[in-house]
Amino acid sequence: MKKIVIILCALVLVVSCKSTNIQNNKKAKTIGVLVDSAMVVSAREEASKIGVAILKKGGNAFDAMIATELALAVAYPFAGNIGGGGFMVYRTNDGKTGALDYREKAPLAASKNMYLNENGDIIFQKSTLGAMAIGVPGTVDGLFKVYEKFGTLPFSDLIQPAIDLAYKGVIITEKQADRIKKYQPYFSKANDTTILYEANWKANDTIKYIQLAKSLERIRDNGRDSFYKGKTAELLVNYIQKLGGIITKEDLEKYEAKWRKPIEFTYKDLKIISMSPPSSGGICNAQILKAIEPFNIAEFGHNSLKSIQLITEAERRAYADRSFYLGDPDFVKIPIDTLISSKYIQQRMANFSWKKATTSSTLKHGKIIGYESDETTHYSIVDSFGNSISATTTLNGAYGSKVFVSEAGFFLNNEMDDFSAKSGTPNMFGLIGAEANAIAPEKRMLSSMTPTIVEKNNQFYMSVGSPGGSTIITSVMQTILNVYEFGFGMQEAVNLPRFHHQWLPDFITMEPKGFTPKLIKNLEKKGYKIQQENTTIIGKVDAILRLPNGKLEGGADYRGDDTAIGF
Ligand code: GLY
Repeated sequence: MKKIVIILCALVLVVSCKSTNIQNNKKAKTIGVLVDSAMVVSAREEASKIGVAILKKGGNAFDAMIATELALAVAYPFAGNIGGGGFMVYRTNDGKTGALDYREKAPLAASKNMYLNENGDIIFQKSTLGAMAIGVPGTVDGLFKVYEKFGTLPFSDLIQPAIDLAYKGVIITEKQADRIKKYQPYFSKANDTTILYEANWKANDTIKYIQLAKSLERIRDNGRDSFYKGKTAELLVNYIQKLGGIITKEDLEKYEAKWRKPIEFTYKDLKIISMSPPSSGGICNAQILKAIEPFNIAEFGHNSLKSIQLITEAERRAYADRSFYLGDPDFVKIPIDTLISSKYIQQRMANFSWKKATTSSTLKHGKIIGYESDETTHYSIVDSFGNSISATTTLNGAYGSKVFVSEAGFFLNNEMDDFSAKSGTPNMFGLIGAEANAIAPEKRMLSSMTPTIVEKNNQFYMSVGSPGGSTIITSVMQTILNVYEFGFGMQEAVNLPRFHHQWLPDFITMEPKGFTPKLIKNLEKKGYKIQQENTTIIGKVDAILRLPNGKLEGGADYRGDDTAIGF
Protein backbone atom coordinates (compact mmCIF):
# COMPACT_ATOMS: atom_id res chain seq x y z
CA MET A 1 0.00 0.00 0.00
CA LYS A 2 1.56 3.24 -1.12
CA LYS A 3 -0.40 5.25 1.32
CA ILE A 4 1.22 7.57 3.73
CA VAL A 5 -1.08 8.33 6.58
CA ILE A 6 0.29 10.80 9.04
CA ILE A 7 -1.99 11.88 11.79
CA LEU A 8 -0.18 14.52 13.73
CA CYS A 9 -2.15 16.28 16.32
CA ALA A 10 0.46 18.95 16.88
CA LEU A 11 -0.05 21.61 19.48
CA VAL A 12 2.91 23.98 19.26
CA LEU A 13 5.76 21.49 19.69
CA VAL A 14 3.61 18.80 21.22
CA VAL A 15 2.94 15.73 19.17
CA SER A 16 -0.04 13.67 20.20
CA CYS A 17 -1.28 10.75 18.20
CA LYS A 18 -1.74 7.02 18.24
CA SER A 19 0.45 5.74 15.49
CA THR A 20 1.46 6.41 11.97
CA ASN A 21 1.53 3.96 9.10
CA ILE A 22 4.30 4.86 6.73
CA GLN A 23 5.68 3.13 3.70
CA ASN A 24 8.96 1.34 3.77
CA ASN A 25 10.34 -0.59 0.84
CA LYS A 26 8.94 -3.96 1.80
CA LYS A 27 5.75 -3.50 3.75
CA ALA A 28 3.77 -0.93 5.65
CA LYS A 29 5.45 -0.46 9.00
CA THR A 30 3.63 0.93 11.97
CA ILE A 31 5.61 3.64 13.66
CA GLY A 32 4.59 5.13 16.96
CA VAL A 33 4.76 8.77 17.92
CA LEU A 34 8.33 10.00 17.43
CA VAL A 35 9.77 12.86 19.47
CA ASP A 36 13.15 14.38 20.19
CA SER A 37 13.48 14.49 23.92
CA ALA A 38 10.62 13.68 26.28
CA MET A 39 7.49 11.57 26.36
CA VAL A 40 4.61 10.24 28.43
CA VAL A 41 2.63 7.15 27.38
CA SER A 42 -0.42 6.31 29.47
CA ALA A 43 -3.91 4.84 29.33
CA ARG A 44 -5.62 8.19 28.68
CA GLU A 45 -4.81 11.14 26.49
CA GLU A 46 -5.78 13.54 29.28
CA ALA A 47 -3.21 11.99 31.62
CA SER A 48 -0.44 11.89 29.01
CA LYS A 49 -1.10 15.56 28.20
CA ILE A 50 -0.93 16.56 31.85
CA GLY A 51 2.34 14.68 32.31
CA VAL A 52 3.85 16.30 29.24
CA ALA A 53 2.73 19.78 30.36
CA ILE A 54 4.73 19.24 33.56
CA LEU A 55 7.78 18.17 31.54
CA LYS A 56 7.45 21.24 29.34
CA LYS A 57 7.29 23.40 32.42
CA GLY A 58 10.75 22.13 33.38
CA GLY A 59 9.63 19.33 35.69
CA ASN A 60 11.49 16.03 35.64
CA ALA A 61 10.14 12.52 35.03
CA PHE A 62 9.30 12.17 38.74
CA ASP A 63 7.29 15.39 38.78
CA ALA A 64 5.50 14.16 35.65
CA MET A 65 4.89 10.79 37.29
CA ILE A 66 3.04 12.41 40.18
CA ALA A 67 0.92 14.53 37.82
CA THR A 68 0.21 11.61 35.48
CA GLU A 69 -0.73 9.18 38.24
CA LEU A 70 -3.15 11.72 39.76
CA ALA A 71 -4.61 12.51 36.34
CA LEU A 72 -5.21 8.79 35.75
CA ALA A 73 -7.07 8.68 39.08
CA VAL A 74 -9.49 11.16 37.52
CA ALA A 75 -9.59 10.17 33.86
CA TYR A 76 -9.27 6.39 34.22
CA PRO A 77 -11.19 5.33 37.34
CA PHE A 78 -11.23 1.76 36.01
CA ALA A 79 -7.67 1.34 37.32
CA GLY A 80 -6.12 4.77 37.94
CA ASN A 81 -6.52 5.50 41.60
CA ILE A 82 -5.85 7.07 44.93
CA GLY A 83 -7.60 4.12 46.57
CA GLY A 84 -5.16 1.47 45.36
CA GLY A 85 -1.42 1.03 45.04
CA GLY A 86 1.43 0.39 42.65
CA PHE A 87 5.13 0.14 41.89
CA MET A 88 7.60 2.42 40.15
CA VAL A 89 11.04 1.63 38.76
CA TYR A 90 13.39 4.47 37.82
CA ARG A 91 16.69 5.19 36.18
CA THR A 92 18.19 8.65 36.60
CA ASN A 93 20.27 10.33 33.94
CA ASP A 94 23.48 9.31 35.73
CA GLY A 95 22.48 5.65 35.65
CA LYS A 96 21.23 5.28 39.24
CA THR A 97 18.33 2.88 39.58
CA GLY A 98 15.72 2.22 42.23
CA ALA A 99 12.19 1.08 42.87
CA LEU A 100 9.28 2.27 44.95
CA ASP A 101 6.73 -0.09 46.46
CA TYR A 102 3.44 1.64 47.18
CA ARG A 103 1.57 -1.64 47.23
CA GLU A 104 -1.49 -2.01 49.48
CA LYS A 105 -1.20 -3.89 52.77
CA ALA A 106 -3.50 -6.29 54.60
CA PRO A 107 -5.34 -4.54 57.44
CA LEU A 108 -4.26 -5.20 61.04
CA ALA A 109 -7.41 -7.27 61.62
CA ALA A 110 -6.71 -9.52 58.60
CA SER A 111 -6.10 -13.22 59.20
CA LYS A 112 -4.93 -16.20 57.21
CA ASN A 113 -8.34 -17.83 56.79
CA MET A 114 -10.48 -14.71 56.55
CA TYR A 115 -11.96 -15.73 53.17
CA LEU A 116 -12.78 -19.33 54.16
CA ASN A 117 -16.03 -20.71 55.58
CA GLU A 118 -16.32 -23.23 58.41
CA ASN A 119 -15.62 -26.07 55.94
CA GLY A 120 -12.41 -24.41 54.85
CA ASP A 121 -13.83 -23.45 51.46
CA ILE A 122 -13.37 -20.06 49.84
CA ILE A 123 -16.42 -17.80 50.32
CA PHE A 124 -17.54 -16.68 46.88
CA GLN A 125 -16.49 -13.08 46.02
CA LYS A 126 -15.48 -12.19 49.57
CA SER A 127 -11.93 -11.31 48.47
CA THR A 128 -13.03 -9.59 45.27
CA LEU A 129 -16.27 -7.67 45.80
CA GLY A 130 -17.18 -5.34 48.64
CA ALA A 131 -15.55 -3.94 51.75
CA MET A 132 -13.74 -7.10 52.93
CA ALA A 133 -11.72 -7.18 49.72
CA ILE A 134 -9.97 -3.86 50.35
CA GLY A 135 -6.28 -3.53 51.16
CA VAL A 136 -4.88 -0.42 52.86
CA PRO A 137 -4.22 1.99 49.97
CA GLY A 138 -0.66 3.07 49.15
CA THR A 139 -0.83 5.43 46.17
CA VAL A 140 -0.95 8.78 47.99
CA ASP A 141 1.94 7.95 50.31
CA GLY A 142 3.87 6.60 47.31
CA LEU A 143 3.52 9.87 45.44
CA PHE A 144 4.74 11.85 48.44
CA LYS A 145 7.74 9.51 48.80
CA VAL A 146 8.61 10.22 45.15
CA TYR A 147 8.16 13.93 45.68
CA GLU A 148 10.37 14.04 48.80
CA LYS A 149 13.23 12.30 47.00
CA PHE A 150 13.01 13.67 43.47
CA GLY A 151 10.37 16.40 43.12
CA THR A 152 11.47 19.76 41.76
CA LEU A 153 8.31 21.77 41.01
CA PRO A 154 5.93 22.84 43.81
CA PHE A 155 3.64 19.91 44.72
CA SER A 156 0.60 22.12 44.14
CA ASP A 157 1.66 22.53 40.48
CA LEU A 158 1.71 18.75 40.11
CA ILE A 159 -1.70 18.06 41.59
CA GLN A 160 -3.59 21.11 40.28
CA PRO A 161 -4.07 19.78 36.72
CA ALA A 162 -5.84 16.69 38.10
CA ILE A 163 -8.03 18.89 40.28
CA ASP A 164 -8.92 21.09 37.31
CA LEU A 165 -9.65 18.03 35.19
CA ALA A 166 -11.92 16.58 37.87
CA TYR A 167 -13.94 19.81 38.08
CA LYS A 168 -14.08 20.24 34.29
CA GLY A 169 -14.98 16.60 33.75
CA VAL A 170 -13.75 13.87 31.44
CA ILE A 171 -15.38 12.75 28.20
CA ILE A 172 -16.33 9.09 28.24
CA THR A 173 -14.82 7.02 25.46
CA GLU A 174 -16.66 4.13 23.77
CA LYS A 175 -14.52 1.60 25.62
CA GLN A 176 -15.15 3.33 28.94
CA ALA A 177 -18.91 3.48 28.36
CA ASP A 178 -18.94 -0.27 27.69
CA ARG A 179 -16.96 -0.95 30.84
CA ILE A 180 -19.21 1.17 33.04
CA LYS A 181 -22.29 -0.63 31.72
CA LYS A 182 -20.68 -4.02 32.23
CA TYR A 183 -19.83 -3.37 35.87
CA GLN A 184 -22.99 -1.52 36.96
CA PRO A 185 -24.63 -4.63 38.50
CA TYR A 186 -21.58 -5.02 40.75
CA PHE A 187 -21.61 -1.35 41.82
CA SER A 188 -25.07 -1.79 43.30
CA LYS A 189 -24.01 -5.01 45.05
CA ALA A 190 -20.93 -3.46 46.66
CA ASN A 191 -22.43 -0.15 47.83
CA ASP A 192 -25.36 0.84 50.02
CA THR A 193 -26.17 3.96 48.00
CA THR A 194 -26.46 4.68 44.28
CA ILE A 195 -23.06 5.78 43.02
CA LEU A 196 -22.00 8.25 40.34
CA TYR A 197 -21.32 5.48 37.82
CA GLU A 198 -24.79 4.01 37.99
CA ALA A 199 -26.32 6.70 35.77
CA ASN A 200 -26.99 5.87 32.14
CA TRP A 201 -23.58 7.12 30.90
CA LYS A 202 -22.92 6.98 27.17
CA ALA A 203 -19.86 7.60 25.03
CA ASN A 204 -19.14 11.34 24.63
CA ASP A 205 -20.95 12.27 27.86
CA THR A 206 -18.83 14.22 30.33
CA ILE A 207 -18.48 13.01 33.92
CA LYS A 208 -17.49 15.64 36.49
CA TYR A 209 -15.75 14.36 39.59
CA ILE A 210 -16.54 17.04 42.17
CA GLN A 211 -15.96 14.99 45.33
CA LEU A 212 -12.72 13.60 43.95
CA ALA A 213 -11.60 17.17 43.16
CA LYS A 214 -12.23 18.06 46.80
CA SER A 215 -10.24 15.07 48.06
CA LEU A 216 -7.37 16.12 45.79
CA GLU A 217 -7.61 19.70 47.07
CA ARG A 218 -7.28 18.39 50.62
CA ILE A 219 -4.15 16.50 49.55
CA ARG A 220 -2.83 19.69 47.89
CA ASP A 221 -3.48 21.77 51.02
CA ASN A 222 -2.75 19.31 53.85
CA GLY A 223 -0.42 16.76 52.27
CA ARG A 224 -0.47 12.96 52.64
CA ASP A 225 -1.98 13.23 56.13
CA SER A 226 -5.27 14.50 54.72
CA PHE A 227 -5.63 11.07 53.17
CA TYR A 228 -4.18 8.93 55.96
CA LYS A 229 -5.34 10.89 59.04
CA GLY A 230 -7.64 13.75 58.03
CA LYS A 231 -11.08 14.13 56.53
CA THR A 232 -10.54 11.69 53.65
CA ALA A 233 -9.36 9.03 56.12
CA GLU A 234 -12.49 9.57 58.15
CA LEU A 235 -14.82 9.33 55.15
CA LEU A 236 -13.06 6.24 53.92
CA VAL A 237 -12.95 4.33 57.21
CA ASN A 238 -16.54 5.23 58.11
CA TYR A 239 -17.84 3.97 54.79
CA ILE A 240 -15.76 0.78 54.78
CA GLN A 241 -16.88 -0.07 58.31
CA LYS A 242 -20.51 0.74 57.51
CA LEU A 243 -20.26 -1.87 54.75
CA GLY A 244 -18.80 -4.44 57.15
CA GLY A 245 -15.11 -3.98 56.31
CA ILE A 246 -12.22 -4.15 58.78
CA ILE A 247 -9.91 -1.27 57.82
CA THR A 248 -9.36 1.15 60.71
CA LYS A 249 -7.86 4.60 61.15
CA GLU A 250 -4.82 2.91 62.64
CA ASP A 251 -4.34 0.95 59.40
CA LEU A 252 -4.26 4.17 57.42
CA GLU A 253 -2.01 5.98 59.88
CA LYS A 254 0.52 3.14 59.79
CA TYR A 255 0.74 2.86 55.99
CA GLU A 256 4.18 3.55 54.49
CA ALA A 257 5.40 3.15 50.93
CA LYS A 258 8.91 1.65 50.74
CA TRP A 259 11.96 2.15 48.56
CA ARG A 260 13.18 -1.23 47.31
CA LYS A 261 16.19 -2.53 45.43
CA PRO A 262 14.96 -3.47 41.94
CA ILE A 263 15.69 -6.84 40.34
CA GLU A 264 18.56 -6.31 37.89
CA PHE A 265 19.84 -8.86 35.42
CA THR A 266 21.40 -9.09 32.01
CA TYR A 267 19.88 -10.57 28.90
CA LYS A 268 22.61 -10.76 26.22
CA ASP A 269 23.85 -7.14 26.02
CA LEU A 270 20.80 -5.65 27.73
CA LYS A 271 20.55 -4.78 31.39
CA ILE A 272 17.03 -5.17 32.67
CA ILE A 273 15.84 -3.30 35.76
CA SER A 274 12.47 -4.49 37.01
CA MET A 275 10.27 -4.67 40.07
CA SER A 276 11.32 -6.70 43.06
CA PRO A 277 9.05 -8.47 45.57
CA PRO A 278 6.33 -8.01 46.66
CA SER A 279 6.02 -8.07 42.88
CA SER A 280 6.83 -11.31 41.12
CA GLY A 281 7.39 -9.41 37.85
CA GLY A 282 11.15 -8.88 37.98
CA ILE A 283 12.03 -12.37 39.21
CA CYS A 284 9.70 -14.17 36.79
CA ASN A 285 10.93 -12.17 33.84
CA ALA A 286 14.53 -12.79 34.83
CA GLN A 287 13.78 -16.52 34.96
CA ILE A 288 11.99 -16.54 31.61
CA LEU A 289 14.54 -14.44 29.74
CA LYS A 290 17.51 -16.31 31.26
CA ALA A 291 15.91 -19.59 30.13
CA ILE A 292 15.59 -18.23 26.59
CA GLU A 293 19.04 -16.59 26.48
CA PRO A 294 21.10 -19.63 25.38
CA PHE A 295 18.91 -20.06 22.27
CA ASN A 296 18.98 -18.01 19.09
CA ILE A 297 15.31 -17.14 19.30
CA ALA A 298 15.60 -14.50 16.58
CA GLU A 299 16.42 -17.30 14.16
CA PHE A 300 13.30 -19.25 15.16
CA GLY A 301 11.14 -16.31 14.06
CA HIS A 302 8.55 -14.18 15.80
CA ASN A 303 5.58 -16.19 17.16
CA SER A 304 6.85 -19.27 15.32
CA LEU A 305 6.20 -22.78 16.63
CA LYS A 306 9.69 -23.01 18.13
CA SER A 307 9.58 -19.55 19.73
CA ILE A 308 6.21 -20.24 21.31
CA GLN A 309 7.38 -23.62 22.61
CA LEU A 310 10.53 -22.18 24.14
CA ILE A 311 8.80 -19.19 25.74
CA THR A 312 5.93 -21.34 27.04
CA GLU A 313 8.25 -23.83 28.72
CA ALA A 314 10.26 -21.00 30.29
CA GLU A 315 7.02 -19.40 31.53
CA ARG A 316 5.69 -22.68 32.90
CA ARG A 317 8.77 -23.15 35.08
CA ALA A 318 8.90 -19.53 36.23
CA TYR A 319 5.24 -19.45 37.31
CA ALA A 320 5.64 -22.76 39.18
CA ASP A 321 8.42 -21.14 41.20
CA ARG A 322 6.39 -17.97 41.63
CA SER A 323 3.58 -19.86 43.27
CA PHE A 324 5.86 -21.44 45.83
CA TYR A 325 8.61 -18.99 46.66
CA LEU A 326 7.26 -15.48 46.21
CA GLY A 327 5.54 -13.18 48.68
CA ASP A 328 6.19 -10.04 50.71
CA PRO A 329 9.96 -9.88 51.37
CA ASP A 330 9.28 -8.27 54.75
CA PHE A 331 7.55 -11.49 55.81
CA VAL A 332 9.16 -14.33 53.85
CA LYS A 333 12.70 -15.18 52.88
CA ILE A 334 12.98 -15.36 49.10
CA PRO A 335 16.03 -17.03 47.51
CA ILE A 336 16.27 -14.29 44.88
CA ASP A 337 19.90 -14.79 43.87
CA THR A 338 19.37 -18.49 43.20
CA LEU A 339 16.02 -18.05 41.47
CA ILE A 340 17.54 -15.70 38.90
CA SER A 341 20.91 -17.42 38.50
CA SER A 342 21.70 -18.93 35.10
CA LYS A 343 22.85 -22.17 36.73
CA TYR A 344 19.53 -22.76 38.51
CA ILE A 345 17.49 -21.75 35.47
CA GLN A 346 19.41 -24.09 33.18
CA GLN A 347 18.72 -26.92 35.63
CA ARG A 348 15.02 -26.05 35.48
CA MET A 349 15.10 -26.18 31.67
CA ALA A 350 17.03 -29.46 31.57
CA ASN A 351 13.91 -31.56 30.88
CA PHE A 352 12.58 -29.24 28.17
CA SER A 353 12.02 -31.08 24.90
CA TRP A 354 11.24 -29.76 21.42
CA LYS A 355 9.27 -32.92 20.77
CA LYS A 356 6.63 -32.74 23.45
CA ALA A 357 5.11 -30.26 25.89
CA THR A 358 6.07 -30.65 29.54
CA THR A 359 2.87 -31.16 31.52
CA SER A 360 2.35 -28.85 34.47
CA SER A 361 1.02 -31.72 36.59
CA THR A 362 4.46 -33.31 36.45
CA LEU A 363 6.29 -30.07 37.12
CA LYS A 364 6.58 -28.48 40.55
CA HIS A 365 8.62 -25.56 41.79
CA GLY A 366 12.37 -26.06 41.65
CA LYS A 367 14.27 -27.31 44.66
CA ILE A 368 16.38 -24.71 46.38
CA ILE A 369 18.05 -25.30 49.72
CA GLY A 370 16.71 -22.92 51.72
CA TYR A 371 -2.51 -13.47 41.84
CA GLU A 372 -3.70 -10.59 40.30
CA SER A 373 -6.07 -8.54 37.79
CA ASP A 374 -6.59 -7.38 34.30
CA GLU A 375 -7.51 -4.00 35.56
CA THR A 376 -4.30 -2.31 36.31
CA THR A 377 -2.72 0.52 34.38
CA HIS A 378 0.81 1.32 33.32
CA TYR A 379 2.58 4.49 32.21
CA SER A 380 6.09 5.23 31.04
CA ILE A 381 7.86 8.59 31.14
CA VAL A 382 11.18 9.91 29.83
CA ASP A 383 12.21 13.50 30.47
CA SER A 384 14.54 15.75 28.51
CA PHE A 385 17.18 15.47 31.28
CA GLY A 386 17.50 11.75 30.55
CA ASN A 387 15.62 10.40 33.58
CA SER A 388 13.11 7.63 33.02
CA ILE A 389 10.39 6.01 35.06
CA SER A 390 8.15 3.03 34.57
CA ALA A 391 5.11 2.84 36.85
CA THR A 392 2.22 0.40 37.16
CA THR A 393 -0.71 1.19 39.41
CA THR A 394 -3.83 -0.76 40.23
CA LEU A 395 -7.12 -1.24 42.00
CA ASN A 396 -6.73 -4.95 41.13
CA GLY A 397 -10.08 -5.85 39.52
CA ALA A 398 -12.00 -3.44 37.30
CA TYR A 399 -12.99 -0.55 39.59
CA GLY A 400 -11.39 -2.58 42.44
CA SER A 401 -13.79 -3.81 45.12
CA LYS A 402 -16.49 -1.65 43.40
CA VAL A 403 -16.79 0.11 46.77
CA PHE A 404 -17.03 3.80 45.88
CA VAL A 405 -16.63 6.32 48.67
CA SER A 406 -19.14 8.77 47.24
CA GLU A 407 -18.27 11.59 49.65
CA ALA A 408 -14.60 11.36 48.70
CA GLY A 409 -15.16 10.50 45.03
CA PHE A 410 -13.07 7.38 44.47
CA PHE A 411 -13.10 3.58 44.26
CA LEU A 412 -11.25 1.32 46.69
CA ASN A 413 -9.16 -1.62 45.57
CA ASN A 414 -9.82 -5.36 45.97
CA GLU A 415 -6.14 -6.15 46.26
CA MET A 416 -6.70 -8.68 49.07
CA ASP A 417 -7.53 -11.19 46.31
CA ASP A 418 -3.87 -11.13 45.30
CA PHE A 419 -3.07 -13.07 48.46
CA SER A 420 -3.37 -16.81 48.40
CA ALA A 421 -6.65 -17.16 50.34
CA LYS A 422 -6.25 -20.94 50.43
CA SER A 423 -3.04 -22.73 49.58
CA GLY A 424 -3.29 -24.41 46.18
CA THR A 425 -6.60 -22.76 45.21
CA PRO A 426 -6.51 -20.28 42.32
CA ASN A 427 -7.37 -16.59 42.73
CA MET A 428 -9.27 -14.49 40.18
CA PHE A 429 -6.38 -14.83 37.73
CA GLY A 430 -6.12 -18.54 38.15
CA LEU A 431 -2.86 -18.04 40.03
CA ILE A 432 -2.00 -20.59 42.68
CA GLY A 433 -0.21 -19.51 45.83
CA ALA A 434 1.32 -21.14 48.85
CA GLU A 435 2.45 -20.20 52.35
CA ALA A 436 4.78 -17.46 51.09
CA ASN A 437 1.75 -15.47 49.93
CA ALA A 438 -0.62 -16.37 52.78
CA ILE A 439 -2.55 -13.51 54.41
CA ALA A 440 -1.10 -11.87 57.54
CA PRO A 441 -1.75 -8.50 59.16
CA GLU A 442 0.23 -5.69 57.49
CA LYS A 443 1.64 -8.02 54.83
CA ARG A 444 1.73 -6.97 51.18
CA MET A 445 0.03 -9.28 48.71
CA LEU A 446 2.10 -10.73 45.87
CA SER A 447 1.80 -8.86 42.60
CA SER A 448 2.60 -9.48 38.93
CA MET A 449 3.06 -5.82 38.08
CA THR A 450 6.27 -5.47 36.12
CA PRO A 451 7.30 -1.87 35.57
CA THR A 452 10.62 -2.28 33.77
CA ILE A 453 13.44 -0.18 32.38
CA VAL A 454 15.96 -1.62 29.95
CA GLU A 455 19.48 -0.32 29.38
CA LYS A 456 21.67 -0.98 26.37
CA ASN A 457 25.31 0.09 26.26
CA ASN A 458 24.83 1.80 29.62
CA GLN A 459 22.16 4.06 28.16
CA PHE A 460 18.42 4.18 28.57
CA TYR A 461 16.86 1.87 25.96
CA MET A 462 13.24 1.18 26.91
CA SER A 463 10.62 1.85 29.57
CA VAL A 464 7.85 -0.73 29.48
CA GLY A 465 4.96 -2.16 31.48
CA SER A 466 1.38 -3.38 31.26
CA PRO A 467 -1.80 -4.19 33.12
CA GLY A 468 -3.19 -7.72 32.82
CA GLY A 469 -2.82 -9.54 36.14
CA SER A 470 -0.75 -12.67 35.69
CA THR A 471 -0.28 -11.84 31.99
CA ILE A 472 1.62 -8.63 32.79
CA ILE A 473 4.89 -10.47 33.18
CA THR A 474 4.67 -12.26 29.85
CA SER A 475 3.35 -9.18 28.00
CA VAL A 476 6.37 -7.17 29.15
CA MET A 477 8.78 -9.97 28.27
CA GLN A 478 7.30 -10.46 24.78
CA THR A 479 7.47 -6.72 24.09
CA ILE A 480 11.17 -6.63 24.98
CA LEU A 481 11.84 -9.66 22.77
CA ASN A 482 9.78 -8.19 19.92
CA VAL A 483 12.08 -5.17 19.80
CA TYR A 484 15.41 -6.67 20.70
CA GLU A 485 15.26 -10.11 19.10
CA PHE A 486 12.75 -9.70 16.30
CA GLY A 487 13.61 -6.16 15.21
CA PHE A 488 10.20 -4.51 15.53
CA GLY A 489 9.77 -0.85 16.39
CA MET A 490 8.14 0.17 19.65
CA GLN A 491 4.59 0.60 18.39
CA GLU A 492 4.73 -2.57 16.32
CA ALA A 493 6.15 -4.51 19.26
CA VAL A 494 3.20 -3.37 21.36
CA ASN A 495 0.62 -4.13 18.68
CA LEU A 496 1.72 -7.70 17.90
CA PRO A 497 -0.48 -10.57 19.11
CA ARG A 498 0.50 -12.04 22.46
CA PHE A 499 0.23 -15.40 24.19
CA HIS A 500 0.62 -16.50 27.79
CA HIS A 501 1.27 -19.59 29.91
CA GLN A 502 1.33 -19.56 33.72
CA TRP A 503 2.01 -23.19 34.70
CA LEU A 504 -1.53 -23.70 35.98
CA PRO A 505 -4.02 -23.91 34.38
CA ASP A 506 -1.99 -25.86 31.86
CA PHE A 507 -2.86 -24.11 28.61
CA ILE A 508 -1.49 -21.40 26.38
CA THR A 509 -3.83 -18.44 26.27
CA MET A 510 -3.66 -16.73 22.88
CA GLU A 511 -5.18 -13.53 21.61
CA PRO A 512 -7.85 -14.50 19.07
CA LYS A 513 -7.05 -13.90 15.42
CA GLY A 514 -3.36 -13.38 16.13
CA PHE A 515 -2.25 -16.91 15.37
CA THR A 516 -2.91 -19.11 12.35
CA PRO A 517 -4.96 -22.34 12.63
CA LYS A 518 -1.94 -24.21 11.25
CA LEU A 519 0.32 -22.95 14.04
CA ILE A 520 -2.27 -23.84 16.66
CA LYS A 521 -2.62 -27.32 15.19
CA ASN A 522 1.13 -27.82 15.28
CA LEU A 523 1.25 -26.76 18.92
CA GLU A 524 -1.60 -29.14 19.73
CA LYS A 525 0.26 -31.98 18.03
CA LYS A 526 3.11 -31.40 20.48
CA GLY A 527 0.72 -31.69 23.40
CA TYR A 528 -0.03 -28.01 24.10
CA LYS A 529 -3.57 -27.03 25.01
CA ILE A 530 -4.70 -23.72 23.56
CA GLN A 531 -7.28 -21.39 25.03
CA GLN A 532 -8.64 -18.55 22.90
CA GLU A 533 -12.36 -18.40 23.62
CA ASN A 534 -12.36 -16.36 26.81
CA THR A 535 -9.54 -14.08 25.83
CA THR A 536 -10.06 -10.83 24.03
CA ILE A 537 -6.75 -9.17 24.79
CA ILE A 538 -3.59 -9.99 26.69
CA GLY A 539 -1.99 -6.99 28.40
CA LYS A 540 -2.15 -3.37 27.35
CA VAL A 541 1.46 -2.35 27.02
CA ASP A 542 2.65 1.25 27.16
CA ALA A 543 6.30 1.79 26.39
CA ILE A 544 8.99 4.17 25.17
CA LEU A 545 12.01 3.14 23.10
CA ARG A 546 15.15 5.16 22.52
CA LEU A 547 16.10 4.78 18.86
CA PRO A 548 19.72 4.71 17.65
CA ASN A 549 19.37 8.33 16.46
CA GLY A 550 18.40 9.39 19.99
CA LYS A 551 14.72 10.00 19.21
CA LEU A 552 12.05 8.43 21.37
CA GLU A 553 9.36 6.19 19.89
CA GLY A 554 6.16 5.67 21.85
CA GLY A 555 4.25 2.42 21.94
CA ALA A 556 0.68 3.15 23.08
CA ASP A 557 -1.45 0.04 23.08
CA TYR A 558 -4.29 0.10 20.55
CA ARG A 559 -6.11 -2.37 22.81
CA GLY A 560 -7.12 0.59 25.01
CA ASP A 561 -7.44 4.37 24.69
CA ASP A 562 -3.73 4.67 25.34
CA THR A 563 -1.83 7.66 24.01
CA ALA A 564 1.78 8.70 23.55
CA ILE A 565 2.57 12.40 23.70
CA GLY A 566 5.93 14.11 23.68
CA PHE A 567 8.11 16.88 22.32
N1 GLY B 1 -3.44 -6.67 41.09
C1 GLY B 1 -2.62 -6.94 40.01
C2 GLY B 1 -1.22 -7.24 40.41
O1 GLY B 1 -0.76 -6.68 41.37
O2 GLY B 1 -0.55 -8.01 39.79
